[in-house]
Amino acid sequence: MTAAPFSVDEVLREAMIAHRAGRMAAAEMGYRRVLKHRPDDPKALHFLGLLQFHEGDALGGIGHVSRSLEHEPSNARAWNALGSMLIAVDRSAEAARAYRRATEVAPSLAEGWYNLAICERDAGELESAEAHLRAAISCDPGYFRGHEALAMLLYQLGRIDAAATAYADWVRLDPANAKARHMAAATSGANVPTRASDEYVRELFDGAAPEFEANLAQLQYHAHHSVVTALVERIGATPLAAVLDAGCGTGLCGPLLRPHCRHLVGVDLSPKMLELARARQCYDELDAAELTAFMRANPGAFDAVVAADTLVYFGALDDVLSGVHCTLRANGWLVFTLEALGGHTAADHELQVHGRYAHGEAYVRSSLAAAGFTTPSLTYETLRQEREQDVRGLRVVAQAVH
Ligand SMILES: C[S@@+](CC[C@H](N)C(=O)[O-])C[C@H]1O[C@@H](n2cnc3c(N)ncnc32)[C@H](O)[C@@H]1O
Repeated sequence: MTAAPFSVDEVLREAMIAHRAGRMAAAEMGYRRVLKHRPDDPKALHFLGLLQFHEGDALGGIGHVSRSLEHEPSNARAWNALGSMLIAVDRSAEAARAYRRATEVAPSLAEGWYNLAICERDAGELESAEAHLRAAISCDPGYFRGHEALAMLLYQLGRIDAAATAYADWVRLDPANAKARHMAAATSGANVPTRASDEYVRELFDGAAPEFEANLAQLQYHAHHSVVTALVERIGATPLAAVLDAGCGTGLCGPLLRPHCRHLVGVDLSPKMLELARARQCYDELDAAELTAFMRANPGAFDAVVAADTLVYFGALDDVLSGVHCTLRANGWLVFTLEALGGHTAADHELQVHGRYAHGEAYVRSSLAAAGFTTPSLTYETLRQEREQDVRGLRVVAQAVH
């Protein structure tokens, strides 16, 4: 049996050890014991505040960390923590002041500059946000969140060359990062991959899943309606035996397709998107997989494949279209949307600055023919908006010839 600690410093040390080990009740008891003897102990106040915040008591946390700072105003980490607690209770102006204090007492604390910048960005103070993100990066060039936020801010501001430089700096320091690589290629036009990597797609959509549908509604997205309407125009009232929703995402196509097929399968790379699709309870099967590999592994399995806003993550279409051809039965339907390349280029496809690919009509037609499809319909329509501009899309209906 170990002897109970008796000096106040020893109690504090034990409480901090318990805290680090996740023994929260023991840690809290220790901090409170310290405060009984030394009510103004800044460490005990600071750590008790952190503990309360992490246990869900934001106001308790704010109270204790603020008191700690009255006694130790030079503690930058405590100012920074106070800022994050204030953000959690929507007191963003006070949070910005706390983060600013963190940067005043520790001008080399990258996290303080970063947090201040994010507050400013969210308040629309974009110039200071940019300056403070640059300050975060110059304090710590390996502070990747700073690179990412700076690159995204510059992109939002329409300063694409500056965004390309910021992404390139990020890639140099974090070469394995899928988003950094993809967006560096998108904004610079250099090292463009033939399609978005699985890792990039998975991370992008896992991150976007919670807000995905709300965001799409704001962008006036309707590719899901468009593809299903086009399919139903072709097949009439008789339900198909089996349909694949390729890149099903959160399952927006699911309820629209359900009345038109007996077996409905969705495939997607993002587990978080699939969770939301599963909650709709209208798919017979949902698979977490890369869709070309999935289709090749399921030859002759479907009467139709729909892909709403999915093939925009592919540049070259030959491989994915031959996968679709493989998974379709004779005369099976493929209905999909793409973003249309403007008239400024003769390229087959182009990775655009926002990270999705656009395709030229002639290339789409020739790729479909090469993969064994006829193309009864290819129409231009607005499928969504990007930075408040309409995005001109292509909706394609094709039929497999076997
Ligand atoms: C913009 S969302 C569209 C989702 C859905 N079709 C809709 O209309 O709401 C694109 C989806 O395609 C998926 N995706 C992109 N490339 C993929 C690939 N190679 N294999 C599987 N899923 C992919 C993404 O994970 C994402 O969920």
